[in-house]
Amino acid sequence: MFEQVADRIRSAKKIVFVTGAGISQESGIPTFRGKDGYWRKYDPMQLATIDAFYENPELVWEWYEERRKNILDARPNNGHYAISSLEKYKDVTVLTQNIDGLHQRAGSSEVLEIHGSIIRIRCTFCDYKDDITSGFDSLPPKCRCGNMLRPDVVWFGEPLPQDVWRKSIMHAQSCDVMVIAGTSLAVSPANTLPLYAKQNGAILIEVNPEATVMSERMDLSLRETSANALPHLVSICES
Ligand code: APR
Repeated sequence: MFEQVADRIRSAKKIVFVTGAGISQESGIPTFRGKDGYWRKYDPMQLATIDAFYENPELVWEWYEERRKNILDARPNNGHYAISSLEKYKDVTVLTQNIDGLHQRAGSSEVLEIHGSIIRIRCTFCDYKDDITSGFDSLPPKCRCGNMLRPDVVWFGEPLPQDVWRKSIMHAQSCDVMVIAGTSLAVSPANTLPLYAKQNGAILIEVNPEATVMSERMDLSLRETSANALPHLVSICES
């Protein structure tokens, strides 16, 4: 099975990666639904929703500030670097659910952030938006226009950035191989991307130490961590 897939990877022109929190786990960033996950400590519906933000902006900002500090201190791991190194051999696009910017910091040049970015901050009122890598003196931080700032992330109940989503589907529909790494595929519509790829004849490779709801649809499931498995996939393209 692996050899068959290896041939398809070698001959692939366009490889799309769909990544989730698991690929950043080895950079010290907790996953959401894993045993050490964020959701174990906090009630997601209390923190990652637009209603929660307007009900208790200070609490939501305290949670995001804690995550921002952790993420800004984190470094990409071998999984992120393997994906960026593949660009030497293939047309590579990363469709990530992660908001940590680690793919870009590892050198990936084509990254679509389906759920936004915790590093990018925007105003709740005017069109101010910028990457901010320092902490804030007071929470919730305020824009020059006087209104609250918020992380430029997609909260439960909010639509995805439409241009990003439209491009993500286009990439999923035009790839030869899709590698789904570090995601439980629990959240829609990101979890439909493998279906778009499959519909267009791509092979699906899952990289996850645990099975997911879509494991039986995969052409190959590598029950390994992404930091171990992804460099191996890259070495296939180098051979
Ligand atoms: N390598 C690869 N996969 C791993 C690793 C690892 N080292 N460690 C854990 N995993 C897997 C887990 O088995 C799990 O299937 O990563 C997956 C993480 O799943 P989730 O915590 O659900 O994260 P994710 O799929 O990214 O969540 C999707 O949900 O809460 C929202 O917006 C949030 O973008 C997030 C979305």
